[in-house]
Amino acid sequence: MRTRKLGQSGIDISCIGLGTNYVGGHNLYVDVDEDEGVRLVKQAIDLGVTHVDTADVYGTGRSEELVGKAIEGRRDEVVLATKGGILFGEYGSGINNDPAYLRGALERSLKRLNVDHVDLYYIHRHDGKTPTEDAFGALMDFKREGLIRSAGVSNFELPELQAAASAGPVDALQSCYNLLQREVEAELLPWCAENNVSFVPWGGLAYGLLGGRYSRDFKLHDNDWRHKTGLFDAAAYGRNMDTVDGLKTIAAECGSTPSHLALKWLLSRETVGSVIAGAKHSGQVSDNVDAERGEASAEHLAAVDALTSS
Ligand SMILES: NC(=O)c1ccc[n+]([C@@H]2O[C@H](COP(=O)([O-])OP(=O)(O)OC[C@H]3O[C@@H](n4cnc5c(N)ncnc54)[C@H](OP(=O)(O)O)[C@@H]3O)[C@@H](O)[C@H]2O)c1
Repeated sequence: MRTRKLGQSGIDISCIGLGTNYVGGHNLYVDVDEDEGVRLVKQAIDLGVTHVDTADVYGTGRSEELVGKAIEGRRDEVVLATKGGILFGEYGSGINNDPAYLRGALERSLKRLNVDHVDLYYIHRHDGKTPTEDAFGALMDFKREGLIRSAGVSNFELPELQAAASAGPVDALQSCYNLLQREVEAELLPWCAENNVSFVPWGGLAYGLLGGRYSRDFKLHDNDWRHKTGLFDAAAYGRNMDTVDGLKTIAAECGSTPSHLALKWLLSRETVGSVIAGAKHSGQVSDNVDAERGEASAEHLAAVDALTSS
């Protein structure tokens, strides 16, 4: 598995990471199989994935507990990333970037993960009220104290990102980015490239759509968080399926698959450090690891790009 540098941290991360919002993510998906979740994390590590991404809010703590269980005895093999700042449980709902809250959230994450530090800690969302310099400054304190090795932000807009960077090095920005959702290309990616911030896309497979398995009459379960993405809304879905058909055609031409091309395209974009593909079963973990092998030609990547470039 190839690796890339994580921002200015000196840490190497695997190009394909594992996103774990399915692992114990009972608040996100229906029919979550916890044992399978633990197996997925172990399998990913066995296959050379070092970057494992979770968050305290996934499964309201359960994802971190299961990830902690999966990495027991092999902590050193993993670049462990988690996030805090979204409220749940006894803390209510909403977002809080207050330094004291973030410290408590990190301490609870470390406990659930059963580790003494994480390799990458993100502020999950901006709360719109705490001065960003104070919030990100708290992460710099955590770093000095050895609780985290690098610091990032997630879902921040450019002014928020710039303010965070004034408090210390932002090693990673994690935001939504895939062939169907390219808003970050306008400002955020160029800024990250100029400022040595690794970009970590979430939703790289457009939540399964770019895997090419969904039919035109596919419907999400009512409790599935992916309703929030807008990609499955009736108005957008047909258009998105047209893009998926285009991706399938290119994949057939070059002997690849839609998911591999979608991931290779992301890895070819400027400043992308690692793609944290989500998975619900073992075949998806191994398939996503395979996506990193070999090169797609510049012509095929350009054809993929042209499917949705405006
Ligand atoms: N920072 C944030 O705010 C934020 C938000 C969301 C997610 N995330 C992180 O980003 C990670 C990835 O996002 P995501 O899981 O929502 O979306 P994703 O990676 O775009 O899609 C994952 C889904 O695609 C399908 N899939 C996976 N591998 C496949 C393959 N090889 N072929 C075909 N289909 C495949 C599976 O769904 P089906 O089997 O149902 O098709 C899987 O659950 C999360 O796990 C989480 O760690 C962060």
